[in-house]
Amino acid sequence: MESSKVRQTFLDFFKSKGHEIMPSSPMVVKNDPTLMFINSGMAPFKDLFLGNSPIKFPRVVDTQKCLRVSGKHNDLEEVGVDTYHHTMFEMLGNWSFGDYFKKDAITWAWELLTEVYKIDKSRLYVTVFEGSKEDNLGFDQEAFDIWKQFIPEERILRGNKKDNFWEMGDIGPCGPCSEIHYDGRTLEEIAKVGGASRVNNDDPQVIEVWNNVFMEFERKADGSLVKLPKQHVDTGMGFERLVRVLQEKQSNYDTDVFKPVIDKIEELSGLRYKPFEEEKHQKQLIINIAMRVIADHIRAISFSIADGQLPSNTGAGYVIRRILRRAIRYGYQSLNLKEPFMYRLVPVLAHQMGHAFPELVSQKLLIEKVIKEEEIAFFRTLENGLKRIDQVCANTIRDKKQIVDGAIVFELYDTFGFPIDLTSLIARGYGLSIDEEGFQKELEKQKNRSREATAVDTGDWIEINKQDSLNKNQEVKFVGYEQLEAESKIIKYRKVKAKGKEQFQVVLDKTPFYAESGGHLPMKRSMLRIQKRKMELLFILQINFLRILLRHFMQK
Ligand code: ALA
Repeated sequence: MESSKVRQTFLDFFKSKGHEIMPSSPMVVKNDPTLMFINSGMAPFKDLFLGNSPIKFPRVVDTQKCLRVSGKHNDLEEVGVDTYHHTMFEMLGNWSFGDYFKKDAITWAWELLTEVYKIDKSRLYVTVFEGSKEDNLGFDQEAFDIWKQFIPEERILRGNKKDNFWEMGDIGPCGPCSEIHYDGRTLEEIAKVGGASRVNNDDPQVIEVWNNVFMEFERKADGSLVKLPKQHVDTGMGFERLVRVLQEKQSNYDTDVFKPVIDKIEELSGLRYKPFEEEKHQKQLIINIAMRVIADHIRAISFSIADGQLPSNTGAGYVIRRILRRAIRYGYQSLNLKEPFMYRLVPVLAHQMGHAFPELVSQKLLIEKVIKEEEIAFFRTLENGLKRIDQVCANTIRDKKQIVDGAIVFELYDTFGFPIDLTSLIARGYGLSIDEEGFQKELEKQKNRSREATAVDTGDWIEINKQDSLNKNQEVKFVGYEQLEAESKIIKYRKVKAKGKEQFQVVLDKTPFYAESGGHLPMKRSMLRIQKRKMELLFILQINFLRILLRHFMQK
């Protein structure tokens, strides 16, 4: 089954069960201090779960673009090294907002996988929540009993809080979950070791494909759990993994989701990507890992730019810049790609995924241009870094030392983007080794610095007059078309600590501030900036005018 059909089949199946098909939300989050990128299908619906937004459709189905590169869910370092983690991936989800719960969710999940997609039942395992003393929660008997109707008991495994209690972040909606795992090993391997012991054991061939979360609680900032006003279902199926299972591949990268981009990388590098079974040799493994990193990262970067997040030096933009640089480094180091190449993958991606995500087509030129500019700048940095390495090695030899200082290895890594193994390789060319321990120490120091700088501590919303039904879930009234000033009441507020500063966010019952792009305060600030720039220009003009006058009189 082609990947586009796999996606459509999912949407159509849940449509036939009364779900509304919704487009993916943008992957880049602008107004949530607790989240930089959408990291799961449920993130855009957070307020529906918490009861803060009205429910328009009680049943929804979608495929959501997700990015797991920061915060609680961060898979970046696994990407490329293994065959089933991604920075950007599609999460197929069906949603019940206060409507159906465990029975329908489990029944439909089983029906879709085994009757529609026709996955071999004997290769499936499921997990249910074993309970948690810490949270005072018991074993999920209800989910267990429902699963028992479909699957033998020995294939229903108990999972702990880490695997079977899903939370979006440190605070927010959460609940016990039930995962579905697929055993893709050969019959020979299966005969040797049963699949049950391989589940959740980092076996690249026994992977989780679908998670069904039964949202019942909200995790508060003090760590306690509070029951949500309603029970909900949040499911997330990894689209790329599902396609791999259906196309009977051993790696997500061997499916048609990644093939066109990998073909293009082969063309640009003149090297071959070999299927998973053939990557046993170290040399091939290095090529395969680099191609996987690039094929993965080009998606993350392109979709982020299409959603309005350009690479930059801070926040979400910095995350995107680092992902792009990680891909370039792999290309440079392992595939001998010595000039900009990432931007040349964009047309292939747009052609392949444009029907499902039209923003890739409409923004194609911008994405190409931004990536190309970034690449040119980074290649320049790499060249400067190479010069610096040569100089450092020469100095080390001159000082009669045999080990390159850890702080300098770190400087090369941090400023020039040189990974430690690349520096080590070049140093070896000079007969030198590098101080890895010193490097790790510097790295740790930097991590602490950036952790402190990006730590965001968000308190719970405190509702004012909670008893007052008028204020509960009341929509904020926008009065800005008629008034520029208005007297309002605070409905709720919360404390947000970020970058060492403390701020309060308030929700008012009515407001003249236009919400999009942050009300008129930022506008005022940018007006001030323009005014300041105008003054500066005026000043420069005046000085120049005085100079001309002076010269004129001097000549006389
Ligand atoms: N929200 C659940 C997850 O991301 C479905 O695994």
